[in-house]
Amino acid sequence: MARTRRPLIAGNWKMNGLRADALALAGELASGMKQAGWNDRELLICPPATLLAAVAEAVKGSGVFVGGQDCHAKASGAHTGDLSAEMLRDAGASHVIVGHSERRTDHRETDAVVRAKAEAAWRAGILPVVCIGETLAEREAGRTLGVLEAQLSGSVPAGATAAKLVVAYEPVWAIGTGKTPTTAEVAAAHAHIRKVLGSLMADAGAVRLLYGGSVKGSNAVELLAAGDVDGALVGGASLKADEFLAIAKAA
Ligand code: 13P
Repeated sequence: MARTRRPLIAGNWKMNGLRADALALAGELASGMKQAGWNDRELLICPPATLLAAVAEAVKGSGVFVGGQDCHAKASGAHTGDLSAEMLRDAGASHVIVGHSERRTDHRETDAVVRAKAEAAWRAGILPVVCIGETLAEREAGRTLGVLEAQLSGSVPAGATAAKLVVAYEPVWAIGTGKTPTTAEVAAAHAHIRKVLGSLMADAGAVRLLYGGSVKGSNAVELLAAGDVDGALVGGASLKADEFLAIAKAA
């Protein structure tokens, strides 16, 4: 079953990167991808929106996908500073991350907002990567699986299919901290996510579930081998070509 789900290694550059460094990194990833000749896994990079078009141009023809880090739910209108999914696609994006914990915290995004953004991605013809994950307090209170269930039920739009959805499990306490859950904890969370998706859609068995949170070259083999893990959503380590390519190799 697992091999029918093509692994996806996604890099979330967050608010990092000025043009020169970003284009150098994108170029290194594109040549790394070409050299490796991987056609059994997918690589995605999500640069800041200012660099989306330039990065898309820099990786053109390499097979590396480019995505946005967020989008507005509407296609256009009076929303100063926001970007629509249509604009991301127009700039070269094929994917968009929605509901990242930093958006949920910094911009108070609710599950309903995240769901609307995922629907916006569909409307624009790009693939949403819907992020969920518990805080440390929620984990310590034994509420992890319940929190994931509520976030999924609220954030995944009706009509979801495996071809139209990627889910990323990112425990908030593991993001940027160097801490990771054990592989058993990751497997338990992913198994539960797949089970909950089973109540929301017909082909939940084929949805790709990414793990995110302090993934790096040295722990990628172990984390990616956990049950029901079909790839990774990588923050800090995606800013270094050799680290990101090492994670891709581990997939
Ligand atoms: P780190 O890999 O830096 O922990 O970040 C994970 C993340 O938030 C990716 O979206």
